[in-house]
Amino acid sequence: MGQTLTEKILSDHLVEGDLTPGEEIGIEIDQVLMQDTTGTMVWLQFEALDLDEAQTELAAQYCDHQTYQFDFKNTDDHRFLRSAAGTYGAHFSRPGNGICHNVHKENFAAPGKTLLGSDSHTPTPGGLGQLAIGAGGLDIAVAMGGGAYYVEMPEVVNVRLEGELPEWSSAKDVILEMLRRETVKGGVGKVFEYTGPGAESLTVPERTTITNMGTELGATSSLFETDEKTKDYLERQGRGDEYVELTADDDAEYADEIVIDLSELEPLIACPSMPDNVVPVREVAGEKVEQVLVGSCTNGGYEDVLPAAKMVKDQEVAKHLEMIVAPGSKQAGEMLAREGWTAEMMAAGVNVSEATCGPCIGIGHVPASDSVSLRTFNRNFEGRSGIEDDNVYLCSPQVAAAAALKGEIVDPRDLADELGLDAPGVELPDKYDGSKTDLIYAEDAIDDELIKGPNIGEVPLQDPLGSDISGETLLKMEDNITTDHIIPATSDILKFRSNIERLSDFTLSRVDETFAQRAKEAGSGVLVAGENYGQGSSREHAAMCPMYLGIEAVLAQSFARIHKANLFNFGIVPLAIDEETYAKIEQGDDVEIVDDVAEAVESGQEEFTIRVNDDWEATANLHASERERRILTAGGKLPLTKQQAEGG
Ligand code: F3S
Repeated sequence: MGQTLTEKILSDHLVEGDLTPGEEIGIEIDQVLMQDTTGTMVWLQFEALDLDEAQTELAAQYCDHQTYQFDFKNTDDHRFLRSAAGTYGAHFSRPGNGICHNVHKENFAAPGKTLLGSDSHTPTPGGLGQLAIGAGGLDIAVAMGGGAYYVEMPEVVNVRLEGELPEWSSAKDVILEMLRRETVKGGVGKVFEYTGPGAESLTVPERTTITNMGTELGATSSLFETDEKTKDYLERQGRGDEYVELTADDDAEYADEIVIDLSELEPLIACPSMPDNVVPVREVAGEKVEQVLVGSCTNGGYEDVLPAAKMVKDQEVAKHLEMIVAPGSKQAGEMLAREGWTAEMMAAGVNVSEATCGPCIGIGHVPASDSVSLRTFNRNFEGRSGIEDDNVYLCSPQVAAAAALKGEIVDPRDLADELGLDAPGVELPDKYDGSKTDLIYAEDAIDDELIKGPNIGEVPLQDPLGSDISGETLLKMEDNITTDHIIPATSDILKFRSNIERLSDFTLSRVDETFAQRAKEAGSGVLVAGENYGQGSSREHAAMCPMYLGIEAVLAQSFARIHKANLFNFGIVPLAIDEETYAKIEQGDDVEIVDDVAEAVESGQEEFTIRVNDDWEATANLHASERERRILTAGGKLPLTKQQAEGG
């Protein structure tokens, strides 16, 4: 039987397991990437593992999420990251050089290679045939030390694209259509492989918009086959020699097939406050807009900003709103400036920003209270923009620019008729020619030892798993709790990301402000949640901080993939409960795991009995591989890896 492309790349990198869907496999990692909010902990953990040098073919550290320097803490973090990259042999991308996924795509992403990144949108270069997976920082540190990365073998689903996109529809509409059909949970345990004539018709930047936002489906990764378009893109980036032809076998067997006819796609929009709340733009037309943002790792490329720039040229954005364009990389920004597009946008009333994630995680350009913000980003979770009562819509650059001109949500096809606009299409430059001044290559490193300012703390360590877990249900939460709920990424909180003692004061503060204080007073306890607990970013702080506060177990109806791995990595027991148990258990209830926990985890026991308020009992399940059980028993991945290193 033939293989899918995912299976081919995994087979080439397999060190453990046998590609049976649902079973754990270990794979070799060729490249790792880190961003600034997760990177400090990666390097502190790398240091704690007593490793000398990055062992992967390539490691790259980016400074992109928090580039505005409000006080010394963030600058200290960036200096630490530069020193760590220099000390351990990684490339370093300075603040302002752009978003990790954009810069990585431009400079390092390579077909057929594996990439592990401490950011949930790491799958972006799947658009040029790289198998890229997001993971927690500790997994990155171990992979960078030469260890395998372990993941559940995903099911491979074929997304067959037919036809071609009509004018005014875009790659963003393809992934929004996927979200509309499959929802934010539809990709869990899956890789989506895009094939068919529609896939062939898309440029690499369009493909990476789709693979980037596959993360919102909960997918392990998303992938396109490589072809002349991939080769052409790499050649235009000056890296044509890195092209490799990669296709699935003709008789490859997929777990499922989804068919999308591109010619039937109309402009779509995700309404507040979930990326799968998708409707045609025309259904929400007329809604007044106060802010429009074009940028992010999804739609911040040269090819994304250019259509918006063409649309606003010789026009004026509506007086009551602000339109901000933050190119995803300095390469994109420089090229747009050289070609005169930046001046055209400025003349139209656009506020052109530096290349940063910033507003995507509520750092800068926070919307006004109770207003509508239209963004070309990938997430619109409530409060992520930096204000609780936000109304964030997600759309393509074309829809965003149309709204900026009209002052309200409008189907760009209607506005085109009204203003006589031509459909801007997607255009690649003859040659990508941004400078490389902000990339410090490993061989040109300027540091050879770590520089730790006062904001750089220690990596917290957990004791080995004990036999008893009992305590109060300190918080009962709903479905789809995100890592933004657990540890918000706004600048006032994020500045403590390298200092867990301080950061943990903000744990779950967006759900309950008293939580951290109550957890500290209790000294231990459990959390209860509904479906899809921990969706969103890869930030391991969302497991590290609860661990620091004494949380020993999370009882949820289901868990998001990366967060579940992070819970194991930090010694917190993730137990699955059914709907009935979830409904019955209340905040404040005392929960006791009846079994000898350490013994049960070690022995491979799946069913655990929980006793609530010494009154009623229910079953909770531990779905964990042998390796994950060893991690839990040791109190987390760091203690286990250290033990293994010491024991030879
Ligand atoms: Fe940055 Fe937002 Fe992407 S935080 S990496 S632009 S999802």
